[in-house]
This record gives sequence, C-alpha cells and structure tokens, in this order.
Amino acid sequence: MAHRITLIPGDGIGPEVSEAARVALSATGVAIQWDVQEAGSAVMEREGTPLPEHVLAAIRESRTALKGPITTPVGTGFRSVNVALRQELDLFAAVRPSRHIKGVPTRHPGTDLVVIRENTEDLYRGIEFERGSEQTQRLRDKLRELAGYELAEDAGVTIKPISVTGTRRIVRFALEFARRHGRKKVTVGHKANIMKFSDGVFLNTALEIDREDYPDIALEAMQIDELAMWLAWEPETMDLLLLPNLYGDIVSDLCAGLVGGLGLAPGANIGWEYAVFEPVHGSAPDIAGRGAANPIAMILTSVLMLRHLREDDAADRLEAAVAATVEEGRAVTPDMGGTAKTMEVAETIARRLA
Ligand code: NAI
Ligand code: MG
Repeated sequence: MAHRITLIPGDGIGPEVSEAARVALSATGVAIQWDVQEAGSAVMEREGTPLPEHVLAAIRESRTALKGPITTPVGTGFRSVNVALRQELDLFAAVRPSRHIKGVPTRHPGTDLVVIRENTEDLYRGIEFERGSEQTQRLRDKLRELAGYELAEDAGVTIKPISVTGTRRIVRFALEFARRHGRKKVTVGHKANIMKFSDGVFLNTALEIDREDYPDIALEAMQIDELAMWLAWEPETMDLLLLPNLYGDIVSDLCAGLVGGLGLAPGANIGWEYAVFEPVHGSAPDIAGRGAANPIAMILTSVLMLRHLREDDAADRLEAAVAATVEEGRAVTPDMGGTAKTMEVAETIARRLA
C-alpha cells in the first residue's frame, strides 16, 4: 500500500529542493501518495493565517510530512510557521545527524554525530514581552515585587521555561535513540551553573533518568561554551548531543558546517503521534529561484523519512546513491564547488537507483 505523505514545499528554495526530493524518492520505487499543502506568507495573504487549520488537519491525518523551509519575516507579528508546527503537533524532538560524506572537504573527516534538540520549550516557547508595552510594564512591577529586580524601562523580555515533564520525554527519546543506533556516549549541553532553575532542570532530569534507567549509556554533562570549544577542536570525539531548544538550534547549524554546510544537513521533528521531516537550512532567499540550491539536505531528509516509514532498504539505497554522487563530485551544486543545477543533482541520484 502507498504511504500517504503530506508535502509542504515551503518558499524560497523550498519548492526547488522539494521537487528534487520527490524525483529521488520516486526512483527508490517506494509508493507514495502525496498530499501537497501550502503554508507561509503567500497563504497568509490568501487565508489570513500562514498556517491554516486544514494544513494541520492534513498532517494529523497522514501523520507524516515532508517539509521545505518557510521564510519567517523578521520583526513582524508573523509567528514562525516552523515553530508553530512543532508546537501544534507537539513534535518535541528534533533529530539532526551530521555525518561526513567522503568527497566533501572538511577538517574533520571522522565526524559522525547526532544532535537531539528539545523542540517545544526554552526561549523559543514564544513567551515574549515587547519593549514599551503595557504587559511589559506590568511585568516590571511583578519582577520588582517578586525578585527585587528593576527591569530597564526600555527592555524587551523573552521567558525561558524548562519543565521536568518536557525534559523527561526528550531525555528518554535521546537515550532510546542512542540504544537503538548503537551510540555509546550522550553529551548534555547546559549552562546550569548560571541558569540554575531552567537549565538546571534539564541537566538534573537527564542525569537522574540516565542513572536510573540507562546504565548502559554513558551520559556526560558539559557546559555549552565548553562544548562549542570541543566541537571546533575535536568533533570526532562527540557522539550524540542532547540539547535544550536554543542551544540545539545553534549547535545543529554548527555541526552542519563541520561536515560540509547547510546544503547537506537533514533533520526530523518527531512527536508521539506525528513526524515532520525538514532540512536544517532555511529558505535561502539569496539563491532562490535559480536552480542553485543543493537538494542533498532535502534528499537526506527523505532518507530519514523512509527509515521512519520502515522502508530501510530504500533508505539505504538512496543514502548510498547520494554518497556515490557526492564522492564522484561531478553533479554537485555551487556550495560544494560544482556547477550543477538542483535538478541535475536529483536526476543523477535517481539514475543511480534505476
Ligand atoms: P538559510 O539556511 O536560509 O541560509 C543560510 C545560508 O546558507 C545562505 O547563504 C544560503 O544561501 C545557504 N544555504 C541554505 N540552504 C542551502 C542549500 N540547500 N543549498 C545551498 N546553499 C544553502 O538561513 P537564513 O538566511 O538565516 O534564513 C532565511 C529564511 O529561512 C529566514 O526567513 C528564516 O526564518 C527561514 N528559516 C526557516 C527554517 C525552516 O523552515 N525550518 C529554518 C531556518 C531558517
Ligand atoms: Mg536553525
């Protein structure tokens, strides 16, 4: 039976890399029935919201979506569709593997790590107090009363909630992932020495669950700044990184850079019920519409989706076709030093699967 998948092409380079992924997926022979849904600013103009209820309903029905990047206009009231999707569908875990592919220039050829990022809490929860607003004035009064803290009149504020409940599930998810994929070491990044009551909850919950239920997996705690140093110095020694939302966002782009850049970095957002697969990169407005986007991030994202659908054989074949294409180095896009167009890369990969 065909897998029913919701496809959200997105905007910017989204439609280009989505089409490329469709071509590559189709060459695997796995039967997929696509349900294409639009979201983002074009939809905002038509329907008054960038993430209409029918798009969420479509994903709730298919349970699985493949999604291109969607632009978030800066400094407007427009809430990020990407963040909203993760929250609405409770996609609490972001999984972002960074494995070096032979043929890609890097200083760290042995790198093979996975970032697992908490996706729903932390500074990205969206609890914002705008500078000069009436709510912020009331918050100032409360902070004075509760903490004796005098908030500057011209300050804007973002709140950082991290709960035991929210942390438990991501910790279990990460430790189960480590077991299933034979990863031996989990490094938890934090700044609990300074943010005792938010990062402290994250760290202590992780340590406790590991001690009680996962004695086979070594859990190492590391301050996020020190982790940044190790990632620049010896990323080969890192295995699985478990991070709260904001650090996870930054560190996963960093890890993408270690193994060849955003054009190669796949990702998945996973919850108990639904999964939305999307590359780490954004809509890249600087190169959109020119066929210059590297489709490999989106194609490797499709590999993650195939594994989720238990199409492991097709996933292995598609991954191998990507690796062979990269190693050969002929059909690669400008970000990898080549001259190929987005679709040429996809078609070269597809031919290897024939
Ligand atoms: P970006 O990832 O779109 O671009 C950063 C740099 O990487 C640019 O120079 C771009 O050309 C390059 N790049 C990215 N993907 C590439 C690819 N596949 N092939 C070749 N080069 C690639 O990040 P930026 O510029 O910060 O964000 C642009 C927009 O995307 C913003 O509106 C942002 O909010 C949105 N965004 C959306 C995401 C999502 O939908 N999940 C994730 C990240 C950003
Ligand atoms: Mg990001």
